[in-house]
Amino acid sequence: MKMYDLIEKKKRGTELTPEEIQWFVRGVTDESIPDEQITAFLMAVYFKGLTEAETFELTFAMRDSGDVMDLSAVKGVCVDKHSTGGVGDKVSLVLLPILASCGLPVVKMSGRGLGHTGGTIDKLESISGFRTDLSEDEFIDIVNRCGGAICGANKSLAPADKRLYALRDSTATVDEISLIASSIMSKKLAAGADAIVLDVTTGDGAFMKDADDARKLASLMVRIGKSAGKDICAYITDMDEPLGFYIGNSLEVYESILALCGKGPEDLMRVVSVLGGAMLRFGGICATANEGEKMISESVTSGKALDKFKEIITAQGGDPACVSDPEILVKAPVVVDVVSEKEGYVSRLLASQAGHAVKCLGGGRDKKEDIIDPLVGVQLFKKIGDHVSLGEALARIYASDEAQAALAADEIKEAYEFSDKSVIRHDVIIDYVED
Ligand code: URA
Repeated sequence: MKMYDLIEKKKRGTELTPEEIQWFVRGVTDESIPDEQITAFLMAVYFKGLTEAETFELTFAMRDSGDVMDLSAVKGVCVDKHSTGGVGDKVSLVLLPILASCGLPVVKMSGRGLGHTGGTIDKLESISGFRTDLSEDEFIDIVNRCGGAICGANKSLAPADKRLYALRDSTATVDEISLIASSIMSKKLAAGADAIVLDVTTGDGAFMKDADDARKLASLMVRIGKSAGKDICAYITDMDEPLGFYIGNSLEVYESILALCGKGPEDLMRVVSVLGGAMLRFGGICATANEGEKMISESVTSGKALDKFKEIITAQGGDPACVSDPEILVKAPVVVDVVSEKEGYVSRLLASQAGHAVKCLGGGRDKKEDIIDPLVGVQLFKKIGDHVSLGEALARIYASDEAQAALAADEIKEAYEFSDKSVIRHDVIIDYVED
């Protein structure tokens, strides 16, 4: 086969055969196909799309381009969760101990933050000593002893996707639904779980700005998962405004601990409850998602989830002192309040801009190599629908110096829009997709 012919075929919108796609993915992985031919092919896909059969084949070939985790040593049904990303999204942090305390083995591989969205691994590393670079054996051992563990994504999972994603990122070909679906699902399938619950975010702070595009992406990922024999469903969730009140690495761990103490914000706890309920049902821990939601609430009120978080932090080498004394996570040197110059009801709070403010404070990355400051971030006092008086505090900036705090304060002011009339807050759960 020749790469030239595959590009020509896709340029004309002709469907590729399974053998052609497998040959392409092998060439991406062993680097026998050069960057310029891969990127020309990606651009052809961007304009002509992939058929469903091509998308499935691409996903499975990328899954098989590296290791596929063998989780057979884990006791119980392994249920994974994936979010397409957002600002203030600490759902995985809260779910880990809750689900583990309910008896569901949580085998979670997570990523680092890039751009205006945060990553679970960066957040956990703000806990002193917490190790996310676990070997596969250590990882499975902790899951079997404590019920759950989180580690960084294994570098040998789906290496073809790694190369394709980097090339898509530098050639403006990321935002094509079949490429996104195959990229995410190749890694999820390689991570080895029996069942998967997807959180496909939509709105200003999400990949998918439009809810209908989010539904299309969710539905395609669900169909890919089902054709691979997995139990899978997706929720479309709102990411127009940040989730919860805190954005920034250690601040999000702080808010997660508050959530485990029963003091979590309503929007965060709604996503935790709905996703977690579906995960418990897939895991066979309960018969219905509603029953699962009750178990989640009970695990928080009884204190079992909080105790489990301490246990997992300790098993992963971290200092659990933050669980008993979460204030130790809130210690940025400069703290400045942002006061409102307007009066009214909050009608918009742009998640992308709030995330960008935290990135500018040093809490996020432009490039993978950037070092982040775990202590900086933003605490929101007002969210959509809240009334604000002139001079009232909108938010609090946690910064490493005054100059950065002033820049972030300007960004946060601009993230807010106000209305004279009262504004209704919508449910953070927008839709459910199971086929
Ligand atoms: N996340 C991924 O892993 N892949 C994409 O293509 C987009 C988001």
